[in-house]
Amino acid sequence: MCGIIGYTGPRNAADVLVEGLKRLEYRGYDSAGICIAQSDSLKVLKRAGKIAVLREALDDQFSGTTGIGHTRWATHGEVNETNAHPHLDSKEEFSIVHNGIIENYQQLKQGLEHEGVTFLTTTDSEVIAHLIAKHYQESLEQAVRDTLFLLKGTYGIAVMSSREPGKIVGARNGSPLVIGVGDGEMFLASDVTAVLAYTKQVVYLNDGEMVTITSREFRTQDLHERIVQKQIELIDWELEQIERQGYKQFMEKEIHEQPESIKRGFQGRINYDQATAHLGGLNMSPQELREVERIRIIGAGTSYHAAMIGSYLLEQIARIPCSAELSSEIRYRNPVVEPKSLYIAVSQSGETADTLSAMRELQRKGARVLGICNVVGSTIARESDGGVYLHSGPEIAVASTKAFTSQLTIFYLLSLMFARQRHYSVDEGQQFIQAIEKVPEQIGAVLAQAQQIQDIARRYSGARNVLFLGRGKLFPVALEGALKLKEISYIHAEGCSAAEIKHGPIALINEETPSVFLIGDDFLREKVLSNLKEVKARKGKVIAIAVEGDQEVADLADDVIFVPHAWECMYPYLMVVPLQMLSFYCALELGCNVDQPRNLAKSVTVE
Ligand code: F6R
Repeated sequence: MCGIIGYTGPRNAADVLVEGLKRLEYRGYDSAGICIAQSDSLKVLKRAGKIAVLREALDDQFSGTTGIGHTRWATHGEVNETNAHPHLDSKEEFSIVHNGIIENYQQLKQGLEHEGVTFLTTTDSEVIAHLIAKHYQESLEQAVRDTLFLLKGTYGIAVMSSREPGKIVGARNGSPLVIGVGDGEMFLASDVTAVLAYTKQVVYLNDGEMVTITSREFRTQDLHERIVQKQIELIDWELEQIERQGYKQFMEKEIHEQPESIKRGFQGRINYDQATAHLGGLNMSPQELREVERIRIIGAGTSYHAAMIGSYLLEQIARIPCSAELSSEIRYRNPVVEPKSLYIAVSQSGETADTLSAMRELQRKGARVLGICNVVGSTIARESDGGVYLHSGPEIAVASTKAFTSQLTIFYLLSLMFARQRHYSVDEGQQFIQAIEKVPEQIGAVLAQAQQIQDIARRYSGARNVLFLGRGKLFPVALEGALKLKEISYIHAEGCSAAEIKHGPIALINEETPSVFLIGDDFLREKVLSNLKEVKARKGKVIAIAVEGDQEVADLADDVIFVPHAWECMYPYLMVVPLQMLSFYCALELGCNVDQPRNLAKSVTVE
């Protein structure tokens, strides 16, 4: 999605902005631009395509110390240099960058056109620049405020004016905005990664709030000019974490970080004496937790797949009826909120519009919603009624990998905690803890097979369609495998329950459509093997992900990747990793941009 960066201070603003935009690249974008305040004018540079193209076009004329920048992910208006932000008013005195969607822009635009304003772009955002110019009387804050009252939709904006050099005004409604507090310099950004190289002190804006930054201070207020006191918070991410550290792609780095990121998720959260998990941020008493009669988990994309696995785990291990639902669906079906139900919103970014809106709708109806998020201070983390952070570290590649396994970690811990409050003995709790503590090393054993997995990927990367099949907890893993493959290699893939193929998808099977089977060693193994044989009987090629030593599967499949033997509940962890690697190597083989796949964005802040 779009990204915003603003800077005012002693440095060369263009350098800071371009560096910040580079850090925002991972969010997905198609064009970029900056605006720098010169002594009495504003100078804009925009380019379609990569930040590198923008950087090349920079010259000495962009030498001011205050500026705003933007990466655009097109929603209204095609991808081209004109539609890239920043946008100016007709006299080029006001410049804006905008994330979000202005729903009533057509109406506002028509009104302005009647007054003689000429629009240069086909975006919804340009209207903001003209409205601010029209309403400017005594101060930039006043003009922005008057404009905001006219807008319907979502926005995170940064605005500057040649009339008030050294000042940037920001405002937020539905699109994140964070202030970076430096020493004699201030930043404004849509994402902390943009400012991490300069400061770790940040202030998060809430919806309905505005901020004015100058090099010396920041001032936050609401739309009615009431001062809002904000806490400065410290980001605990290190700069190295958002760098490739020797890997060519972030996705590869993040896949390989999983033994560590999973460990960070459970370390310090296990109570060995009581053989249970201790999750501090839930804001629920033991009594309230015991009274939970039903759990409903919501999420989107990969987070939804983690939610599905979470629902299997909580139901099997904690024996609490549990279901997972797409946040985009629950939001609009007027959900019935049951009194003793607990809701959980899962989101790596903590900003996904579908999940955030669903959470708000559930809360409006009286639900208690916990958040499972990676990004500290994100909107879902702040607006949920309690929750748990993943501690996965920043995830930069668009395709989620380590956040997914960290989300699973939280569901394992929740399952253990609930189970120990209900029917699990100390002994069972201890066995659970032993099993989860082995996982990082077992994932290490899967990662060590990188060469073999790459060879397999090379052989199958020419396929046009691939099926991913699993049952039980491995069914959502199959869905995740299919999503990973399609999003980064653009090979069409479908995940389904192995049992379901006979109800339709088996029609796709022929020599050219390979199937990836996930085969554990529990009671479902035999049934999945039957499905595998059905595929082989129709000349379908099979890649099996199976448990080490399963010779029967090795004999039946065309290719096999083994994972270490584990407690059956842990196979979602172990089997998703080879699927991430298969997708990664297929995409690499096909020459795709693995970290920034086409049309996708890291944090989906529009509906
Ligand atoms: C896929 C992927 C997306 C996200 C989805 C939800 O690799 O990353 O499907 O999982 O957009 O994002 P979050 O978890 O930030 O709510």
